[in-house]
Amino acid sequence: MVAPDPTRDRLDFDVLVIGSGIAGLHYALRVADHARVGLVTKMNAANSATQWAQGGIAAVIDPLDSFEDHVQDTLRAGAGLCDEEVVRFVVERGPEAIDSLLQYGVDFDRSGEAELYYDLGREGGHTKRRVLHHRDATGREIERALLQRATRHPNLELLDYHIAVDLITAHKAGRTEPNRALGAYVLDSRSGEVLRIGARITLLATGGAGKVYLYTSNPDIASGDGIAMAYRAGATIANMEFMQFHPTCLFHPDAGSFLISEAVRGEGGILRNRSGEAFMERYSEQKDLAPRDIVARAIDTELKVSGDDFVHLDITHRDAEYVRTRFPTIYERCMSFGIDMTKEPIPVVPAMHYCCGGVRTGLTGESDLTNLFATGEVANTGLHGANRLASNSLLEAMVFSEAAADETIRRLPDVDPPGELASWESGDAVESHEAVIITQNWDEIRRFMWNYVSIVRSDRRLARAEHRIKLLQEEINEYYWDFKLTPDLIELRNLATTAKLIVQAAQFRKESRGLHYNLDHPERDDEHYLHATLLQRGDEPRPSRR
Ligand code: SIN
Repeated sequence: MVAPDPTRDRLDFDVLVIGSGIAGLHYALRVADHARVGLVTKMNAANSATQWAQGGIAAVIDPLDSFEDHVQDTLRAGAGLCDEEVVRFVVERGPEAIDSLLQYGVDFDRSGEAELYYDLGREGGHTKRRVLHHRDATGREIERALLQRATRHPNLELLDYHIAVDLITAHKAGRTEPNRALGAYVLDSRSGEVLRIGARITLLATGGAGKVYLYTSNPDIASGDGIAMAYRAGATIANMEFMQFHPTCLFHPDAGSFLISEAVRGEGGILRNRSGEAFMERYSEQKDLAPRDIVARAIDTELKVSGDDFVHLDITHRDAEYVRTRFPTIYERCMSFGIDMTKEPIPVVPAMHYCCGGVRTGLTGESDLTNLFATGEVANTGLHGANRLASNSLLEAMVFSEAAADETIRRLPDVDPPGELASWESGDAVESHEAVIITQNWDEIRRFMWNYVSIVRSDRRLARAEHRIKLLQEEINEYYWDFKLTPDLIELRNLATTAKLIVQAAQFRKESRGLHYNLDHPERDDEHYLHATLLQRGDEPRPSRR
């Protein structure tokens, strides 16, 4: 390995990790015991979607639960598109993933006499209680424990406020060898300098793409960076039509789509329309605990019929002290807007929550670009199919980061170092004094994606979105090379690419299934669409069976 040299624009590590949520940190910690790891993260390291996860992590811990039940619940939610081998792989590694988190010092809530048992939560689509949690702030607790370890690990260098611009591949570097990942160009957003970071293996753990939509429960960092970079580098992206809308985000002009965890419904919360009717009874036998696609669409229908802006989530029938203790974060946040959830129902609306599509990976977490791995929300492993089961994502991130770390450690001795890498060419780019161009395009994408490509789609809406995204991409490409890179410009370009992939995949699937609902094709069509949708640069979308 070449030692990092801060006086030049080049750094080298054995392994480069992009992203500092549960997926990036668990992988980095495992690999750093064997090799030198650089981890870049675009804001401060705790600013990740993991930090915001409320519900918890699903795993079979209770002797009355079984792997088979968890597998079947996951397959049912996934509406025919889960890869059963992957589902079993993940579910069976659940207890081991929980053990690793306990070893990091994660504190899961306990209950029962002498607090002997884990307090297992229930969420939509699960037939059993199996969600380990830390009150209603599980992600924050996990991020705390992992980051504490990561900042102390002698073999792990954390570079915060560093945003990846593009992956470096052998072909982009002009080599004739079989293509492989060689690292990434990364903007140090404090100095404005673009670094070349060379690595023998690169892991994308950049999270999701909630910011593609106007309303999202995701943090600002979720701009589809990893998906867009992998796509530009030639890796296959899959299932981008399956965007999960969480049914219950707080409706308040200043709340910024604050999530009201599904665990509230798991503990008895009931959705009601303006007339107080518990309307989920009309939509599903599982009522308020139906899978998210069903609940989000039911709310959307209720709002369209009534013309209301929100529905109510009512947990006032539960003991007030219990509600305050079980949901302290949600209680405090609602109180800050003058809503006492122990006495009055919470106004809620759906918002974009989780990207089920992503960089297509196999059982080791590797993409089809050699030495590029992807784990966590950025990846499409085959676990979620057409709809993710609640609290399966933290589990998926742990299991695949472990698998990717194992493969990385095994393979590293045989991987050649990246060699010569050209410096970033900024050419004649000048400082942009027109930030308004970026904010205008950013707002436009998020608004038309919300209006045309969210919970309910139609062929016409998708065609309109396709048209607009084309114009915007032309505009963005025009000034991308004219102006000096800023984090906003990088994110805008990634947002546009991700939006294009969502629209393309949604147009390709002329049926309704799981999270993809098209008014012009309202039925599920197993004869023609029992497959994933694959997207690769330069090609039309294509189907795949897995
Ligand atoms: C929630 O707490 O409702 C979110 C859990 C998840 O998305 O898995």
